Amino acid sequence: MDVASSFPEPTGLVDLPPRVDAATYLCDGRVIPWSGETREVVSPIATRAGDAFEPVVLGREASLGEAEALAAVAAAERAWDDGFGDWPAASMAERVVAVERFASALEERAGAMAAMLMYEIGKSRDDSLKEVVRSVEYMRETVVELTRLDGAGVITGKKGSTTHYARELRRPIGVVLCVAPFNYPVNEFLTTVIPALVMGNVVIGKLPRFGMLANLVAAPAFAECFPPGAISLLPGDGRAVITPLMKATREKAGGEGRHAAIDVLAFIGTEGAANAILGYHPSPISLHKVLGLGSKNAAIVLPGADHHAVAAKVAGGALGFNGQRCTAEKIVFVPRSDAEAFVEVLAARVAERKVGMPWVDGVAITPLPEGPDKIATMRAYLDDAVQAGARIVHGGAAAHTLIQPAVLAGVDARMRIFHEEQFGPIVPVVAYDQLDEVVAWQRSSPFGQQAGIWGPRAEAAKLAHTMTSLVSRVNLNDVCQRGPDSFGFTATDKSGFGVLSLREALLTFSRPVLVQSTDVAAVSAP
Ligand code: G3H
Repeated sequence: MDVASSFPEPTGLVDLPPRVDAATYLCDGRVIPWSGETREVVSPIATRAGDAFEPVVLGREASLGEAEALAAVAAAERAWDDGFGDWPAASMAERVVAVERFASALEERAGAMAAMLMYEIGKSRDDSLKEVVRSVEYMRETVVELTRLDGAGVITGKKGSTTHYARELRRPIGVVLCVAPFNYPVNEFLTTVIPALVMGNVVIGKLPRFGMLANLVAAPAFAECFPPGAISLLPGDGRAVITPLMKATREKAGGEGRHAAIDVLAFIGTEGAANAILGYHPSPISLHKVLGLGSKNAAIVLPGADHHAVAAKVAGGALGFNGQRCTAEKIVFVPRSDAEAFVEVLAARVAERKVGMPWVDGVAITPLPEGPDKIATMRAYLDDAVQAGARIVHGGAAAHTLIQPAVLAGVDARMRIFHEEQFGPIVPVVAYDQLDEVVAWQRSSPFGQQAGIWGPRAEAAKLAHTMTSLVSRVNLNDVCQRGPDSFGFTATDKSGFGVLSLREALLTFSRPVLVQSTDVAAVSAP
């Protein structure tokens, strides 16, 4: 396949958003123009002249550092004020009004955010818009969930013959640092920021390297809807910004010394980065955390499965947003006697996925935001597997930031892709003789997010029982996925920590407080 020809001529760009040359960030309620060092923001989309690619420049990013990180901490400290600041002390109803205003403001900007997202991370036009719209819906559903949480009644318990009554309240925890990934830079950012804010916390958001400009489209709306210091948006190199934030301390009222500035870390990214970040915190015991890390979700095909139905679904699950989803299927296990036939069907489904620029109707495979280096990483996975005896059944042709999705057959334990998370458009297929081999693979994997089991209901249910000891969600004849958002999104082992969902996020970003008495009337009082 001539992948290079998918890139447009210099005149062929579509829906290019306005170039953002004035670098800004949000701190203390103001969108601040930045006059310091900047980095050029380059799209994975490029124009082509012959064999040469010219990446589209989208604007400039403020290279913030320690001073700006500490200014954000100081603003957050003032806004938090030991829980007595305007925002944490606001009533739930007042906070809900602010979030609803923000949701409407975001809705108005959805088109602009989606256009930027499409160029920043190469997500298809439809999926970029869906990401923003899904985030707006998530905010509105969060508010509904909050009213349910807030309506919890009085609980009772017995101590000897005495009845105790208690009302459980939720209180904010403090300063939350939210760090989002590039694959869902708007959705995964807002699904931590908004529940944290609505519970009365103050938030410092470190914007992802790719997807930063899309989030900054929302900066004026954040400034309008939330009080100064309640939310900061900081672009820049992760090490330069996150390290001082994690190390920072803040004053306690009454001068009882300083304590850690960050009370909660909501981080979605790699295990290595998470470990480094956690290591900087001055008081690990007081840090709450919710982490979404690496994954290697398996699609397990059982004897008797309908190959055509499974291949169609698994091709979509493994290659949605080019395989750059934490929930993507990243390895497929098939009974050895079925493997050859299944691989042919799977390759046919993968071959149907249109490769091209994200604005092309029906496009499925688009340029990768991590650039030509990521393409080299993908090619290295393929070469390593082929050298050890695997076969590329389909795909693998590449140019600049685009690679045709590949199906690899005959994958085994000698190959890196058997063990490692590829986070890209390669579907490795492993033939097994006994299901025990699949269970052994999962047991040896450092990851534990989800698995999909495909085949007859009774056999699938039996294996599901075993797999639930090893992963956090088993999908029966369905792809791995985060949604619906009312379901707990979690992982075990090195894939993550904590639970996010509409309800769980509200619990994650708040702490329980009891008001108890043996006098039921006392605890029932508003
Ligand atoms: O990258 C991880 C995302 O949360 C996955 O969400 O399964 O809805 O694509 P999704």
